[in-house]
Amino acid sequence: MAEAGIPGYAYGAREVARSPVSLEELDLLRQTVLFTGEDERYLRMAGEVLEGRLDELLDVWYGFVADHSHLVYYFSSPEGEPIQEYLERVRERFKRWVLDACRRPYDQEWLDYQQEIALRHTREKKNRTDGVEAPEEVSLRYMISFIYPITATVRPFLEEGGRPAEDVEKMHQAWFKAVVLHVTLWSQPYAREGSF
Ligand code: HEM
Repeated sequence: MAEAGIPGYAYGAREVARSPVSLEELDLLRQTVLFTGEDERYLRMAGEVLEGRLDELLDVWYGFVADHSHLVYYFSSPEGEPIQEYLERVRERFKRWVLDACRRPYDQEWLDYQQEIALRHTREKKNRTDGVEAPEEVSLRYMISFIYPITATVRPFLEEGGRPAEDVEKMHQAWFKAVVLHVTLWSQPYAREGSF
C-alpha cells in the first residue's frame, strides 16, 4: 500500500517491519509519557493547524539540518555532498509523518511503521528505500537530542493557528509527548539485546 505520490512511504504495507513492542508495552510507554485521550484530541487539533503549513515547517527543520554539517552528513554522499534527491524524498515522507503522528490511531499498524522508521535510521535499512550511498546509520545521540528542536520549532506554528493560548499549550504538550514516544520506539534497534 505505497501511498500515491510519496516515494518510499509504506505505512500499512506488507513489507513493513513488525514491531517487537507489544500493544501492552506500548500502553505502558503511553502511561510513562503521560499520554492520554486528551492528548490525542489536542494532537488532532495540532494536525489541523499544521496541515496547511507543512512546507514551512519542513523548511525550518531542513534549515536546521543544513546549518549543521554533523547533521547534513547523514544525507550526504561519500564525497561529502548532500544528496538532493534523498533530501527531497525524505522531506515528503517527513511531512506525511507529521500528519500521521497527529491523526493515526496508535495501533498495531502504527506500531509496525514505527519499527520500519526506526530501522530506516539504522544500518539495517537506512539508504535502501531511496537507493542512496550515504552514511549507514544515524547516531542514536542525535536521534534523542533532535527531540528538542522538533518540539520547540513547532510552537510558533501552533501559536499562529489562531487558537486560544490554553489550546496552544495543550497542543504543544501533546506534540512533545508524541515525539518522545516516537523516538523511544525508534531507539529499539539501537538497544543491546534485552535492554530496550
Ligand atoms: C528519515 C523523522 C532524527 C536523518 C526520517 C523520516 C521521518 C523522520 C519521519 C521518514 C520516515 C519514512 O521513511 O517514512 C525524524 C524525527 C527525528 C529524526 C522525528 C527525531 C526527533 C533524525 C536525525 C537525523 C535524521 C537526528 C540526522 C540528520 C534521517 C535520514 C532519513 C530519515 C537520513 C532517511 C532514512 C532512509 O534512508 O530511509 N526521519 N528523524 N533523522 N531521517 Fe529522521
